[in-house]
Amino acid sequence: MEVFRLEGKVALITGGASGIGKTTAREFIKHGARVIIADKDSRTGPQAATELGPAALFVQCDVAAEAQVEDAVKIAMANYGKLDIMYNNAGVTGPSYPPSIADLDLDDFDEVMQVNVRGTVAGIKHAARAMIPAGSGCILCTSSIGGIIGGAGSHSYSASKSTVPGIVKSVACSELCKNGIRINCISPGPIPTPLTLAQIGLIYPGASQEKLVEIVNGLGQLKGAKCEEADVAGAALYLASDEAKYVTGHNLVVDGGFTCFKNLPFPSPHEFL
Ligand SMILES: NC(=O)c1ccc[n+]([C@@H]2O[C@H](COP(=O)([O-])OP(=O)(O)OC[C@H]3O[C@@H](n4cnc5c(N)ncnc54)[C@H](O)[C@@H]3O)[C@@H](O)[C@H]2O)c1
Repeated sequence: MEVFRLEGKVALITGGASGIGKTTAREFIKHGARVIIADKDSRTGPQAATELGPAALFVQCDVAAEAQVEDAVKIAMANYGKLDIMYNNAGVTGPSYPPSIADLDLDDFDEVMQVNVRGTVAGIKHAARAMIPAGSGCILCTSSIGGIIGGAGSHSYSASKSTVPGIVKSVACSELCKNGIRINCISPGPIPTPLTLAQIGLIYPGASQEKLVEIVNGLGQLKGAKCEEADVAGAALYLASDEAKYVTGHNLVVDGGFTCFKNLPFPSPHEFL
């Protein structure tokens, strides 16, 4: 017998029109949820909702604008009467170049922080307003391996993503615990979504899409596997389901072990022996 792990739940996923968000929306729907796809892209958003079927609803929303996040939550409440799961997933990388902090354009930095940090905080805030009176709920946020180690993204991206687990910890036990609300984040490794391919494409101008996908898929360390949207969707499904009923304040790293080791740079033996 098939088990529906999110039967009757209502989820709102920002950045749900593409990549990780869209795959997670599909997975949540497969498990019985109704999903609001809140995305700023007015072309891919409605397409994604149509593709995902009647359990998906598109709401245009730029997470950098708090009022639009508030409206998206209100639409969820007006349509379904509740919000069980809020997944703050929308994100941007900002420009990778110039690579030096000495040349960083702080307007670019602000833009990345507006979406990745302010957008996440706005999502948590307005989800909390809907969930606190209900006395339950689950909030998820997408961080990144770029938030765990330096060098896996631009300075702006790394700074923004390292802030996400901090926000999660700040609100998890000090406040949301008392209201029966769980909050966790997920830190994926590189996945060849449009976001990553656009960045890698800048490093390899003229490379075909297939080549760029191959490059991204070759960045992992776990033999025989590559990081895919479905891996993050699976992590999100677990965290959103009752199986994770005692898990909160956690950063679930989905990177095939990439951030948990670094080889010591021993010189080769023949140089010394
Ligand atoms: N793909 C990766 O390698 C990777 C790795 C780690 C973390 N992430 C994070 O995963 C999240 C999803 O990215 P993805 O890889 O699925 O990329 P994607 O490009 O496939 O999807 C991102 C979606 O977010 C939307 N979006 C961007 N800015 C927005 C805004 N201001 N308001 C609302 N929607 C907005 C886009 O329209 C798009 O639909 C991001 O937070 C990203 O930083 C991605």
